[in-house]
Amino acid sequence: MAKLTEIGWEAFSGLALEAKKPYLEREEGDGMPYHTLFAQQFDRALLERLCALANRIRFINKSKEGALYLKNVLAHKRAMLYFSQPSSRTFLSHLAACQILGLTTGSVRDAATSSEFKGESHEDSVRTFSSYFDMIIMRSPEQGLAEKMAWELSNSERPIPILNAGSGKDQHPTQALLDIYTLVRSFETKGGLDGRTVVFCGDLMRGRTVRSLSYLLTNFKGVKQIFVAPQELQVPADVVMVLAKKGVEFEVADDLKSAVKIADAVYMTRIQDEWDESKGASAKIDTSRFKFGAEELALLGKDGIIMHPLPRRDEIATCCDHDPRAMYWRQMRNGMWIRAALIASVFGFEKSIMDCGY
Ligand code: NCD
Repeated sequence: MAKLTEIGWEAFSGLALEAKKPYLEREEGDGMPYHTLFAQQFDRALLERLCALANRIRFINKSKEGALYLKNVLAHKRAMLYFSQPSSRTFLSHLAACQILGLTTGSVRDAATSSEFKGESHEDSVRTFSSYFDMIIMRSPEQGLAEKMAWELSNSERPIPILNAGSGKDQHPTQALLDIYTLVRSFETKGGLDGRTVVFCGDLMRGRTVRSLSYLLTNFKGVKQIFVAPQELQVPADVVMVLAKKGVEFEVADDLKSAVKIADAVYMTRIQDEWDESKGASAKIDTSRFKFGAEELALLGKDGIIMHPLPRRDEIATCCDHDPRAMYWRQMRNGMWIRAALIASVFGFEKSIMDCGY
């Protein structure tokens, strides 16, 4: 079994994502991640296990007895939520997931309130958290930071798992898990996710949720991906290369209305202008044709769904909010259940929850 303690940082960081996967798994050999860093760690079997566990947790939590059982599962563990980038849903749903499982939590929501402000290195901050907590859930504007911290911790005297809650423009694996969970549930009684057409629209160049979800979708058979964006914000080459290599059908387009007509799911995203190299650069791009409103709603099939990782600005008109095909509210709540499933699995409680009598 590959171990992060047996490979240097340079050698590890130079590996392809798929080759990194075995180094990040739980030592118990059940295929579950120990460190959760990118979408490439999840194959279809793992996704199905996590969706099944999320459904179980959701069901068990309905009764008081069940909820109290769940609250005891990880009552002996503590999690640190280390967020040095703004977040509402990702922070709160991880917090709620921890609460469901009984983990107690600590948090940093702004690097200005931690010793990093005094010049402490990320390595020292993370080592500090590992002295008090049993897991670090982290979001950072820095690409690759979660990966480096995972390697550092695994090579420290107190290794604890890292869960990447968004790293730069790069990856957002747990968002992709909740997106898959939402898609799987939406098509559960309608023939499943295989063979569906998923349309991504908005800022596909800088949206990390798109990169992670696009990859996870390759685990399903015959899912076609259509990328609709202004040319300046189109899907980056590395995402396209993964799809081409895997022989996945995809299309790069610029007409949302035509894409909506054939879509099973439309995944809208906001313009990520916080990454603009010069202030106001995104505002100069004409994004008016990349918004979902009443006209697009009228073109969407009756079983089609509208998704969004949120927060939204004006890329989905509020007139869509009460349509039964607007899945973004449920998507947000699904995040809590699938994150609880992942956290329970990282600590080795998948089987006991699946088999419990509730
Ligand atoms: C996304 C993110 O932070 O990448 N939000 C989220 O986690 N739900 C998308 C975004 O900020 O646009």
